[in-house]
Amino acid sequence: MKDFKRTLITSALPYANGPVHIGHLAGVYVPADIYARYLRLRGRDVLFIGGSDEHGVPITIKAKAEGVTPQDIVDRYHNIIKDSFEELGISFDVYGRTTSATHRRVASDFFRRLYDKGEFIEKTTEQLYDEEAGQFLADRYVVGTCPHCGNENAYGDQCEACGTSLNATDLINPRSAITGNTPVLRPTSHWYLPLDKWEPALRQWILEEHKEWRPNVYGQCKSWLDLGLQPRAVSRDLNWGIPVPVEGADGKVLYVWFDAPIGYISNTIDCVGDDWEKWWKDSDTRMIHFIGKDNIVFHCIVFPAMLMADGSYNLPDNVPANEFLNLEDDKISTSRNWAVWLHEYLRELPNRQDELRYVLTANAPETRDNNFTWADFQSRVNSELVAILGNFINRVAVLLHKFYDGTVPPAGQLTEQDLRIKEEVEETVAVLSENLENFKFRDASKEAMNIARIGNKYLADSEPWKVIKTDPKRVETIMNLCTQLCANLAIAFEPITPFAAEKIRKTFRLSDLTWDKLGKFDLVPAGTEIEQPQLLFEKIDDSIVEEQVNKLLRTKKENAIKNWQPKPVKPAVDFETFEKLDIRVGKVLECKKVKKSKKLLQFLIEDGMGTRTILSGIAAYYAPEDLIGKEICFIANFEPRKMMGIESNGMILSAVNADDTLTVIGPAGPVQPGAAVG
Ligand code: MF3
Ligand code: ZN
Repeated sequence: MKDFKRTLITSALPYANGPVHIGHLAGVYVPADIYARYLRLRGRDVLFIGGSDEHGVPITIKAKAEGVTPQDIVDRYHNIIKDSFEELGISFDVYGRTTSATHRRVASDFFRRLYDKGEFIEKTTEQLYDEEAGQFLADRYVVGTCPHCGNENAYGDQCEACGTSLNATDLINPRSAITGNTPVLRPTSHWYLPLDKWEPALRQWILEEHKEWRPNVYGQCKSWLDLGLQPRAVSRDLNWGIPVPVEGADGKVLYVWFDAPIGYISNTIDCVGDDWEKWWKDSDTRMIHFIGKDNIVFHCIVFPAMLMADGSYNLPDNVPANEFLNLEDDKISTSRNWAVWLHEYLRELPNRQDELRYVLTANAPETRDNNFTWADFQSRVNSELVAILGNFINRVAVLLHKFYDGTVPPAGQLTEQDLRIKEEVEETVAVLSENLENFKFRDASKEAMNIARIGNKYLADSEPWKVIKTDPKRVETIMNLCTQLCANLAIAFEPITPFAAEKIRKTFRLSDLTWDKLGKFDLVPAGTEIEQPQLLFEKIDDSIVEEQVNKLLRTKKENAIKNWQPKPVKPAVDFETFEKLDIRVGKVLECKKVKKSKKLLQFLIEDGMGTRTILSGIAAYYAPEDLIGKEICFIANFEPRKMMGIESNGMILSAVNADDTLTVIGPAGPVQPGAAVG
């Protein structure tokens, strides 16, 4: 591989229409941060760019839904997102926003440059228009069926199910996301970037020169290129966005996917000032885009075509896009509130940033979609972070204090066993570095943890707490080696769990940590007085998991109520048919659970003629004593049935609610037991 001087790391700019969730983190920000931290430890020149994407239809839809301005929305969420990233330790060099003055200027200039070079085609075409809303429908303002995969909820610019980038007029059965109306066609003129012109260059660049890209990224690019690229509109008829900087373009703004990636450039300028061009144009700088899979087409085809059209920029060297993370076996969804929101996690599980970073890395959706569950979160924290990493560091620090008052002893003659440990660590470290270089963060986290495993096994095998009585000299060597292992762990885990790494660093009084020290055993000199160990990780109690799972169950319930629809009415029946059913009012005299049955309640009903026993499968919904004394309706001529050895004479009427609760049906006013309902 060519040796680069600098690395520009970009992470997709999240839409400022809501907070970020674990899907964003696992897909983009945690891996990008690991990579940035790793390169910094390697002493490489790195710039890590983040920022909010504040234009586009996702913002205006949210503003409309809340009855506030788009500016209100982006101000609110930009700050929530920025603060929560910072608290999680995402080490952006800059976190900008696309409503900044710098960005407006840079994006305008970029458009204008291509315009002046004649890189756009201006075309008048028929576009979808919502007559009731009085506006054109583009992007997320229109939904319809994807012509490629049949997904019925594809957007006007992209189908999120198959990832294909679309034009609104490609949709089958389009409908307005504003009014639900079927749009009409109206002519309007726009500027198009002729992607077809760049197709041969894109083919050469991706398919020939970047065969090393992840198979999911390479494969998606190949299938789009094989479909043939079309000119793509880069302006929109909207009033939220950067005005098209051309005479007579009133009411037209830049398409959000034109302006947003330019945000990477604007944010670079806000970060380093006049020096920015070396990050974008020097051939010894390489650029890496961290994104989720729904962004592949924009980062591998559209933005590179824009950069090619300009002609003075570098193209990305790699685009390590991740697949999606599901939550408890269901697709993460902002509209269904099916997510673990970062700002809520930070509030509800305080001081547990590393735990989230680690679990999202160990279970990262790198090669396929993956699933986050709270049970898995708990088990990885308790049995890996606490039981392996935290445990090793703590045991070493405690033993050093116990045997030597906290002073690191010198190492003597190394035994076979010691040499083997060193060799194992060297091998592990080599694989770890290799994984990080190749964006395999999931595997990297396993290798880092293996260093702690080696340490625990070494302690268990060498038993210093026993040997101290017979061979204290030997224990000095063992404890010196263990101390060096702790220092190695501080380095290996810095990219993944930086807060814990910092604690280890302090405890063992390590100064500058650099990646080239990894695998070495002279990192803490003998004689160093270490500090008292700090607690690295705390166990996750069942109660925490329960609370989070219950929160999700409440969300499920809320969604069920929101989406509830009554069943369609059954075919008509005549009066005689209705009359065959003998519905009566009755009074509950007794009600109890049927032994050995989870479902059945046994009722004794006063029915005006005497009493009767009715069994009903509603035990999950009621405490029996709550029904005693109630007036209820029942079918009196329902055929007798025997269940659990008890004969049931009738059927109690009840209705199931949207949230899956159930209510027994009774008269709205006083009625004689035995009175017929009809
Ligand atoms: N806001 C987009 C999304 O959330 C990502 C924009 S990335 C950028 O899918 F390159 F355009 F900045
Ligand atoms: Zn599709």
